Amino acid sequence: MNFSLSEEHLMIRQAARDFAQNECKPGVIERDTNMKFPAEQVKKMAELGFLGMMVSPEYGGGGMDTISYVIAMEEISKVDASCSVLMSVNNSLVCWGLEAFGTEEQKRKYLVPLAKGEKIGAFCLSEPEAGSDATSQSTTAIDMGDYYLLNGTKNWITNGGSASTYLVIAQTDVAKGHKGINVLIVEKGMPGFTVGKKEDKLGIRASDTHTLLFNDVKVPKENRIGEDGFGFKFAMKTLSGGRIGIAAQALGIASGAYELAVDYSKLRKAFKTEIINHQAVAFKLADMATEIEAARLLVYKAALLKDQHKNYDMASAMAKVFASEVAMKTTVEAVQVHGGYGFVKEYHVERLMRDAKITQIYEGTSEVQRIVISRGVLA
Ligand code: CAA
Repeated sequence: MNFSLSEEHLMIRQAARDFAQNECKPGVIERDTNMKFPAEQVKKMAELGFLGMMVSPEYGGGGMDTISYVIAMEEISKVDASCSVLMSVNNSLVCWGLEAFGTEEQKRKYLVPLAKGEKIGAFCLSEPEAGSDATSQSTTAIDMGDYYLLNGTKNWITNGGSASTYLVIAQTDVAKGHKGINVLIVEKGMPGFTVGKKEDKLGIRASDTHTLLFNDVKVPKENRIGEDGFGFKFAMKTLSGGRIGIAAQALGIASGAYELAVDYSKLRKAFKTEIINHQAVAFKLADMATEIEAARLLVYKAALLKDQHKNYDMASAMAKVFASEVAMKTTVEAVQVHGGYGFVKEYHVERLMRDAKITQIYEGTSEVQRIVISRGVLA
């Protein structure tokens, strides 16, 4: 067992750290306040290769391993979780799904521009009545011969407005249950497809989360990924890897808040000494450091299993449930360490606290992760 990072991993960490500090930090508070999409930062992420890190170079990606990806996700999430969620969805859900299960034509047409960051992707599973219970899809994709007729509404779709390529999960044959679900590649601009309202959210406010509406959209048959009825398994397999990215995001939010708390407590004086010298603060920092390290090990383990082509369903669920709880706990404590300063925007920790919450909800709630883990335990 080797706990040290390779030279290449250290270089990726430094590049992501520099990008986060130099490009994401300036303006992060304003973008959060005004729900301003980080267009400049996304452009830069594309140039740096962060949007298709794990895609093979043959399809325009960086050909990197999952460890590299989680390292970059952690660093960027320390500073700007709105940027990192875009990166996570594009890499883990859209690019990975296309590369693993798409046809050669689909990869050439859709994966290459997504991996290069010339286009952005979105993953469309959640519906007004189908979030955790993903088999209960109301969106329909009726087989019309050489095309599917797509109708329905998708909710809370990350990158909903900024994306050009959407992977849409829909029910083709309700009698077949989850085996009657398909996944279709939908392009922005297809007649009948409209981007609906943008959500005004608690956290990750600069990311654009939208409702999407499909009204008699004709999607060519060649835009279906996999065999007929593969859509639900596609979603499950893709989300399993996506959860590693969100776990890394949660880890980054926690470690970002922790680093701010350490820095602040070394400077702030109370009762004639820096507050880090008070055990009440030092013990909080000790607990944060311990829990963050434990979360990091779970995230790296899930990433390593994926790189080794072993089953990572349970490991990714464990990493996500634990890291997201650590993110919540750490950010609340970081605000406490900052006292009154923690409650105002200027000190960043209140934003990290708000951003942490979504990591317990999207790509499967903490309750869903426990379903996955307990099934693994019982197997
Ligand atoms: N890999 C491959 N196949 C899998 C799988 C996996 N990880 N998980 C399940 N399956 C298969 C099962 O084997 C089963 O197939 P068979 O019938 O052939 O055996 C089939 O899928 C159905 O599985 P289940 O019976 O386990 O399905 P279920 O209805 O009990 O659901 C669940 C299980 C784990 C709760 C699942 O519904 C789930 O993960 N829900 C949460 C969905 C989710 O994460 N939503 C988030 C939205 S996406 C998002 O947030 C993106 C964003 O924008 C940030």
